[in-house]
Amino acid sequence: MFTTPKGRPTLCVIDLEALRWNYHKIREKVGPRIKIASMVKANAYGHGAPCVARALAEEGCDAFGVATLEEGIGLRQAEIRSPIIVLAGVYLEQLDQFFEHDLIPVVHEIDGLRRLDAAVQSRGTSLNVHLKIDTGMGRIGLPAAEIGSWLPELKKLKSLEIDGVFSHFSHAESVQGDYTRKQLEIFQGIVSRLRSENISPPLVHLANSAATITLPSAYFDMVRPGLMLYGVYPSPAMTGQIALKPVLSWKTSILQLKKVSPGTSISYGQTFITQRESLIATLPIGYADGYPRLLSNRGEVLVRGQRAPVVGRVCMDLTMIDVTDIGETKPGDEVVLLGRQGNAEISADEMAGWSNTISYEILTSIGARVPRIYYHSKKER
Ligand SMILES: Cc1ncc(COP(=O)(O)O)c(C=O)c1O
Repeated sequence: MFTTPKGRPTLCVIDLEALRWNYHKIREKVGPRIKIASMVKANAYGHGAPCVARALAEEGCDAFGVATLEEGIGLRQAEIRSPIIVLAGVYLEQLDQFFEHDLIPVVHEIDGLRRLDAAVQSRGTSLNVHLKIDTGMGRIGLPAAEIGSWLPELKKLKSLEIDGVFSHFSHAESVQGDYTRKQLEIFQGIVSRLRSENISPPLVHLANSAATITLPSAYFDMVRPGLMLYGVYPSPAMTGQIALKPVLSWKTSILQLKKVSPGTSISYGQTFITQRESLIATLPIGYADGYPRLLSNRGEVLVRGQRAPVVGRVCMDLTMIDVTDIGETKPGDEVVLLGRQGNAEISADEMAGWSNTISYEILTSIGARVPRIYYHSKKER
């Protein structure tokens, strides 16, 4: 059950049962021994991190990944007790808060490692960290090829405990290619070299969603799924390889209906002029809600189980659709922007295609002013 807020009807419904289902599909896939670190950064890919993380923690999720200190604190405030890895690292000014909230920073360059070690040592304590290795992603991480220069530094650490070592694949959508295989080999080489030098972090991890679905050799001790938890496949080719259920639906309802004559201009800039007598519905959703402006004259929504086109430019707070062919409609009728209505469905991938981006960006861009309403099953309190 869920209750909708009074007033503006633009909201996201988050189906926590689907989330739990997806989590268990991942658990089935990786087996009982591999840990699962659920990626709940960026407000759990737009789904609302506190509720998502609580639901996953109840299902036994081993750890969580966030991008920033603030996201980590948010999880602790939501009473998440599991290990939380802060992927984008630690700024020394934040160190007290890492201790206060028991967060695990990622360390990704050698100067930062040294400074962090000294700062922790000066507190007379120790800190668990995860080491990030750049095996070909080309962003943060200790360069794999330069292991000869940074490995000796690891041996000098006095106060940092290397709890984990990990890397990240460059191909988020598919990990079938040679480049991925090369990254995997490089990472295996790094782990072996560390072990040969008696550095054996308990948690070795590499797999994102795509690798969790298709590349068991990348599981090591822990997988780091993000997108698939939310029921979205990293690529259409993976659909059916694991049975995921979409978690988020984005809805609104018709604010105003207008019958207009042919030749009427709709929205800013006269980019849509009606060619016939038309029924135009205005929706209380705009780019300030994260509804992409690129959907202007390109996107579609669902009304009465049918597709209606977005006409004219998406505005900051309002968007127009053409419901002339839908049949009887009235203000207050439900409009689905993303998700299912009757037998019709608009997926995050389809919306991403219209706006020339990826599902990740669609989900994480849904604005803060769109309430997230949680579908509560009997398991929820
Ligand atoms: C370091 C890291 N690990 C795991 C993930 C999860 O990736 P995906 O959502 O493709 O599963 C991300 C996502 O950006 C990431 O940055």
